[in-house]
Amino acid sequence: MKKEKVILTGDRPTGRLHIGHYVGSLKRRVELQNSGQYDKIFIFIADAQALTDNIENPEKVRQNVIEVALDYLSCGLDPTKSTIFIQSQIPELCELSFYYMDLVSVSRLQRNPTVKTEIQMRNFESSIPVGFFTYPISQAADITAFKATTVPAGEDQEPMLEQAREIVRRFNYIYGETLVEPEILLPTNQVCLRLPGTDGKAKMSKSLGNCIYLSDSADEVEKRVKSMFTDPTHLRVQDPGKLEGNTVFTYLDAFSKPEHFGLYLPEYNNLQELKEHYQRGGLGDMKVKKFLNSVLQEELEPIRNRRKEFEKDIPAVYDMLKTGCEKARETASATLDEVRRAMKINYFDDMDLIAEQAKRFNQ
Ligand code: TRP
Repeated sequence: MKKEKVILTGDRPTGRLHIGHYVGSLKRRVELQNSGQYDKIFIFIADAQALTDNIENPEKVRQNVIEVALDYLSCGLDPTKSTIFIQSQIPELCELSFYYMDLVSVSRLQRNPTVKTEIQMRNFESSIPVGFFTYPISQAADITAFKATTVPAGEDQEPMLEQAREIVRRFNYIYGETLVEPEILLPTNQVCLRLPGTDGKAKMSKSLGNCIYLSDSADEVEKRVKSMFTDPTHLRVQDPGKLEGNTVFTYLDAFSKPEHFGLYLPEYNNLQELKEHYQRGGLGDMKVKKFLNSVLQEELEPIRNRRKEFEKDIPAVYDMLKTGCEKARETASATLDEVRRAMKINYFDDMDLIAEQAKRFNQ
């Protein structure tokens, strides 16, 4: 039998999704979804994981579940092709995590680089909630419950995937071939691995106020672009400008296509020519920003318009999610059956076991 190709990936609902999520992962998901190369696609909203470090803020998580669902739909994720669901509605994931916890040591979790940096970022030190500390295990459950072969995600998720693969290997070694080892699928475009914030800082983050959201209005996008960080030494138009660390050019690397030049900036044939002129001097930031704004608006406008349509019928979006949860549960529970069988905790569906025990006690 040919091995099934299964995609699984998700996002924490801690805010609306921004263009960093879009180039880093969302856009690719939609392409993969429409490629017809995958047998099954699962996209989920990781609300339970979001709660591991927002335990006192359930309202924030609840509000953002629907925001993320709307972002998904407006980007072109299609519930007839992809199963879109909410993590907390799949209790099978908790049960799997519980069993996997016996396969991972405390020191292995402490060495997980993502956990390490997140503990530092959140100033958790000795007060880390156990649930947060063990979220790599729960993430392994998310992935393996659906027998995912392919996890499209950013570079920062690599340690999570490594942890998941270790759990799969350990489980299969002890209990026999049951689970599937997943692989990460990173963005192909280097600049898309991590899009910087509009202020030039390494990461887009809500708390820094340096994001362009998929749901921002055309005016909000334009305002953000106009105030973007460029080259601070490029003071007059005639000065030579630098490309390194120049956020406007980084965004152009991520978003511009050759045909954009004919449409919005016909004096140049391509990005290379624009860059060379900027470096030589004689090209003002505002002109480049105007161009970037046109490029971004072209990409974001259809997303924004689709979102407005979905916003008109919010109950239908919840219905879609509910159906997705039901479908996802079927798969997760089939995997859980196999896991229980492998772990020999399937007492009531194993007729051989009952017969064997009956014989043993009645010889
Ligand atoms: N940790 C991911 C994030 O912060 C979200 C996530 C949870 C995830 N479970 C996953 C991603 C499983 C891929 C696969 O965005």
